[in-house]
Amino acid sequence: MEKYIIANWKMNPDDLVKAKSLLASVEIGLTDNDKKVVICPPVIFLRDLRQIVNKCQLGAQNAYFEKQGAFTGEISVGMLKDAGCDYVILGHSERRQYFGEADGAVNKKVLAVLASGMRPVVCLGEQERQAENIGEILKKQLTTILSGVAKQKLKEVVLVYEPIWAISTTPNSQPCLPDDALTVYLFLRKMLIQTYGQGAADKISILYGGSVGAKNAADYIQISQFNGFLVGSASLKSEEFIKIVKI
Ligand code: PGA
Repeated sequence: MEKYIIANWKMNPDDLVKAKSLLASVEIGLTDNDKKVVICPPVIFLRDLRQIVNKCQLGAQNAYFEKQGAFTGEISVGMLKDAGCDYVILGHSERRQYFGEADGAVNKKVLAVLASGMRPVVCLGEQERQAENIGEILKKQLTTILSGVAKQKLKEVVLVYEPIWAISTTPNSQPCLPDDALTVYLFLRKMLIQTYGQGAADKISILYGGSVGAKNAADYIQISQFNGFLVGSASLKSEEFIKIVKI
């Protein structure tokens, strides 16, 4: 499977000049080999950033599954592709929490993104720390969001385990212990193997997200075995983000 560092800028920074400057300062610190660094800015900045991006790839933070029509405020996967996107984050917990997105809609988006030739970066994770039925929660999410995905397309899916209670902007967030994260990584891997067989499952990258920074990145790779990260807050600080990429 491939290794990824994906920057989720969320609704930041607050203008295009700052967005260009942030991208430029990230790229200065990257070597030409850091090919799987994906920057997901607010969608309004995509076309401008496409003009200056060099070493990274670009992604969006959401998409709608219909091709076009009367869907006020939505943006289709085709439009995102046309704007220079290669990846689309889907099912992020903030989309679920603030905009009522459920697994069924996320699944339709996954299928639409795959059909377009872009790669879906699909988030799943439990709401509460020490949720008793975490296995059931993750199994249900995984089964629904990947429903109908053809086996040969699985290698294009990037999964992200993001325990919501560990996201830095969640009130009273707490770090997920690397050993606990390993348990989840192994659980997800096993589920993928059981469902799709070893060969297909091995090609799916599983990333970790939730308060990742330069101080804990090595643990989530070495102890928890994840194949990379979805980085929120730390992706807005170019020096810290570059350190995470190098780790
Ligand atoms: P965080 O955000 O790195 O600030 O915890 C991760 C995310 O929400 O994607």
